[in-house]
Amino acid sequence: MSKVALVVGGGQTLGEFICRGLADDGYRVIVADLNEKNASGVSESINQEYGDETAFGVKVDATNELSVKEMVERVDSLVGRIDLLVYNAGVATASKIDSFDFADWQLSINVNLTGYFLCAREVSKVMIREGRGGRIIQINSKSGKVGSKHNSGYSAAKFGGVGLTQSLALDLAEHGVTVHSLMLGNLLKSPMFQSLIPQYAKKLNVDESDVEQIYIDKVPLKAGCDYQDVLNVLKFYASDEAAYCTGQSINITGGQVMF
Ligand SMILES: NC(=O)c1ccc[n+]([C@@H]2O[C@H](COP(=O)([O-])OP(=O)(O)OC[C@H]3O[C@@H](n4cnc5c(N)ncnc54)[C@H](O)[C@@H]3O)[C@@H](O)[C@H]2O)c1
Repeated sequence: MSKVALVVGGGQTLGEFICRGLADDGYRVIVADLNEKNASGVSESINQEYGDETAFGVKVDATNELSVKEMVERVDSLVGRIDLLVYNAGVATASKIDSFDFADWQLSINVNLTGYFLCAREVSKVMIREGRGGRIIQINSKSGKVGSKHNSGYSAAKFGGVGLTQSLALDLAEHGVTVHSLMLGNLLKSPMFQSLIPQYAKKLNVDESDVEQIYIDKVPLKAGCDYQDVLNVLKFYASDEAAYCTGQSINITGGQVMF
């Protein structure tokens, strides 16, 4: 029987790429997203490529306890197991601290951190009940290891994700469930990075057209982070080969962060 991966925030960009990559690797994939249309669209196109019932689209608001419970109940009734949770949902809003809206702070904490807690808690119940072990992988950021200028809400939430990952790893070790955070460099072509370019240009006092190159120059390996770089590492930590690793925050930053 195929393993089941639940990808929260799977409806576009990196999350969509991970869903396709996991389907290609033989998983049945639950594409969960706040944007129901995107979740359905991704799952339909996976089914066209890999066969009916390879993927299912479900709507979830990861910040809402009831919505997360309903999502996991639905997945449980559809496929009866969850082997891998990828918590990919994230939001970033950039402002200097003296003009950082409280609502933006709360949204960042809710989506980047609280949603991870709620999804991990509900999924862990299924993993423990099924007794097959499992994997929980949070998509984090290098901003979860080093502070990020004009990004206090995002960085604080992502740092919190590391503490949550380590604590989940301790709670779930006895059940053979391992837990990791992937600390990504900048996904330069993503809508999230592109949406921040005006603020970054202002922060750096440069033209918007120069921003991408400046971010490439900060990376020792001289490239932005690709979706494929993330998928490669994720597949390893999801695999049996990584069974002896847990609680790690793994850098995928081209050498930009080294601890
Ligand atoms: N883009 C980057 O440069 C970058 C860099 C480092 C880390 N990351 C991290 O990678 C992850 C994916 O980033 P992306 O650029 O693909 O973002 P994105 O905005 O393109 O995709 C995020 C997805 O999460 C979904 N989502 C948002 N709120 C949700 C909620 N409450 N419930 C359920 N789903 C929700 C969105 O609908 C969207 O489909 C995020 O966790 C982000 O913090 C991104």
